[in-house]
This record gives sequence, C-alpha cells and structure tokens, in this order.
Amino acid sequence: MTASTPPPRRAHAADDAESTTLDPVALFRGFVSLRRLTGMYPAGHPAIVSKLTEIDESVQRHLQSTPVLQLDIIHGDVHLDGVSFRQDNESQAQVVRELSDLGVDSIHIRRGVTRDELQALSEVLWQLKDAPASAPIQGRLEQRNIYHVTLGKLVPLDTRWKAQEWPDAPQGPLDPAYAESLALTEKTFDDVASGKGVNLLTVREIVELLIRKVAGSSAALGQILAVKLYENLTYCHSVNVATLSLLIGRQLGFDAAMTSALGEAALLHDIGKTRIPLDVLKKPGALDKRERKLMEAHTIYGAEILVEVAGLQPLTPTVALEHHRAVTGGGYPDFDEAKIPHLLSQIVSVADIYEAVTGARSYQEPATPEQACLVLARLAGTKLNTALVKAFVNTISFFPLGSVVRTDRDELGVVVRTIPSEPLHPVIALLGAGHRRVAGEIDTSRRGASGDYERHVVETLRPPAPLDLNEFLAAS
Ligand SMILES: [Fe+2]
Repeated sequence: MTASTPPPRRAHAADDAESTTLDPVALFRGFVSLRRLTGMYPAGHPAIVSKLTEIDESVQRHLQSTPVLQLDIIHGDVHLDGVSFRQDNESQAQVVRELSDLGVDSIHIRRGVTRDELQALSEVLWQLKDAPASAPIQGRLEQRNIYHVTLGKLVPLDTRWKAQEWPDAPQGPLDPAYAESLALTEKTFDDVASGKGVNLLTVREIVELLIRKVAGSSAALGQILAVKLYENLTYCHSVNVATLSLLIGRQLGFDAAMTSALGEAALLHDIGKTRIPLDVLKKPGALDKRERKLMEAHTIYGAEILVEVAGLQPLTPTVALEHHRAVTGGGYPDFDEAKIPHLLSQIVSVADIYEAVTGARSYQEPATPEQACLVLARLAGTKLNTALVKAFVNTISFFPLGSVVRTDRDELGVVVRTIPSEPLHPVIALLGAGHRRVAGEIDTSRRGASGDYERHVVETLRPPAPLDLNEFLAAS
C-alpha cells in the first residue's frame, strides 16, 4: 500500500477544482451530505442522484489506481490511504465531528463497488443516528448487500462508556439454578475446547435445568434480560441465548419435545467458537477480512463438532450452521441457494442478537433492553422473522424484569413484574440508599382520577454496581 500511496496533499488541494487527485475531506463531506439528503428526501430525488453521481465518479476514478480506497479519521485528522491530510479548518472539523458522532471513523471502499452500494451505504449511515453504538455495523452492511465497503467504529474514549475491560462473567449473587447452569456450561465448553468432546449427559442436565428452573425464575430472567456488565464471550452467552429462546418457544406454545430440541440447539449454537482463537474473539474493533472469515467459520465448525456427537437432537447441528443466516436467504455461511433457516434457527437468531446487543464488549457499551428491541424491530423482515421478533418483544416487554428504570417523577426502581397488556408500564421496586430495595412496589400502570397514568418510565439506566437483583426479584 505504501509503495503506491500518493504524497500528502496540500491544505488547499480541496479548493483546486481542476485537481484530479482525490480530496478525502471533500469525499467525507460528500458522504455526510448524501447521508443527510437520504434522510430528508425520498430515494430517487434529484438532489440525491446528483450527489451520488459526484461521489461515485470520484470513488471509481480513485479505484483505478488502487484496489482499496481508505478514508480514516485518526486523532481528528483525515487520512487517505494511510497518509495524513492535514487541513486545519472548521469545515473539516465539522465533517469529522458528524461522523464521529455516528461512531464512524473509517470508510474503506474496495474496487468493484457499485453505485447501488454507495447509495445503500448512505442509508445505513443515516440510520446510525438512532442506533445504539453496539449494533453490529458490518452485519448491517451485508444486509443491504454492501460487500465492497467496510465501516470502522470509534472506540468511545471520550464518553462515560470508556473502553474498558469487563469481567468475563456476571458478578455478584446469581439465581442458584442460573449459577449452576453457567458452571456446568463453562465446563462443557472447556471440555470441547480441550478436545474432550461434548458430554451428552451434562448437556441434557443443563437443558433440563434451563427449562424447569431458569426460564421460570424471575430472578434469573432479570439477570439475563437486563443490561449485562460483563464481557460475555461464549458460555454465558450460550446459557442466556438458550433461556431467551425457551421464552420464545413457550410463547409459541411448543410441546415438551420441541422445547427440549430448542433448548439443546440454542445452548450449543456457538460451540464452534471453541475453535476460534481468543485474540480474534476478543479483538476490540472491526475484524479484518481474514479474521472475519475465521469468525464466520464458527457456524461450520459448530456443525462439524455436533454431527459427530451421537445422541444429540437431530436439529442441533443445523441450528449451529444456520443461526447467522437471514430469513430472506442471506447471511453466512454462504449457501448456493437462498435456503431459509429452520424455525429453531430463526428463534435462536432473535435471542442471539438481543443477547449480544445487551452485553458489554471492550469496545462497545451494552445497549439497554429497549434499544435492543428497536434493533430487533429494524431487522424484522430482513434478517429476522417478524412474527418471532414480535413474540419475543411481547414476552419480555420493553422494560423487562431486572431493568433499572427512572420514572418521570425521578424515582429510580428495578422492574420486578411486567404486565402483558401494559408493556411500557411495569411494576417497579424502588431503589433506596446503598442500592437496597425499598419496601413496597409501585405499579406504573396505575391511572389517576383523570384516567391518565400517574407516572411513566422515561428511561432505562445502567445498573448501579453493586446491585443484588436477587434481593429485588426473589422478593417479588
Ligand atoms: Fe454465532
């Protein structure tokens, strides 16, 4: 790359209309304008068409001389193909700020990019405005059939969500059945990672525990549904996804046999990650192409591991293989035909995304449950099955058990009961001094004499540590 890198541009190159070299600030500015136009006008509007043509022409021209056009913002400076393009003016600062606010610090475009991809990119950039920083950005691009563009996201160094090391597992007291299922699953995954194979009896024991106890315990559900302040790599994620999948199965009226099949498949859906190196699994920020291919292979590895285990439910390897496939036929692994994933795989996909988005990563803040529900809603109909998303969101409600919320009367409380007919108005227990439970509960669905709600929940907050959810949820 360095051999073909053009020399650093002069600060006034941006104003040189005759210049044939690419002005990265102008291109960044073009993307910012196109993004705004996309948000303001319907597709096909002349303003969009003309801006898109301008961007497409300069991108294609630049890609004649290099296979990848790399635009990066590093420490507030715009870089083109790795070379700094210093231009100390307010216009650049504004462009940089606007992209930084979206969490985008790099746009890499590969040769072969189409005008349609650039247009879809502007729509993705527009949609980032109301998306949590934690939503998987690369997945969104692929969903829109954008395969020649990579977006990099900033590590949020200057927000209260500092890039940080999170613990590897939930801290503090846990529901006993949940704690037991976590311990058994950790051992099961460690055994697979060390080549000992899948212990069928333990798997069955965990699935039973999840069905009989964990999925029915409000304390456990609170610990799984609320924002999770730990770096949840595989085994905790698997227990959580299995429990959430069981909630969907229950909502769909699954019988005992289907429930067991779902629980087992969901528990083992990511077992292929035991073959992925930890530095790739835990890498902060975007994966490069090789790492992404490796990560995507966890679906195939999982199916390979599971087909070798006699006695598993027949659909368990299928779900491991398919859980990143979209209901419209896309996603990975790439099958030749647009094969629609099995219903169980579709259920696990919904639970998987909710679980991943509400969990922490070293480079991303955990999203609140309501943000995660919005992410699911946006994916409904493309990646996810709309009916399953509805079933899931109806089951957990917008402010699920265990969420720490603030009311419009400035009361802080923990959701201890949800009311199916009142998804926005749960029952809460107030948080008192030292984050202890205050006696009594408040039903936020209660209405006053005028018929209006007495209070509304206005937001979900990150739980103040240490908070003993058992104390709140077991008591209710
Ligand atoms: Fe996965």
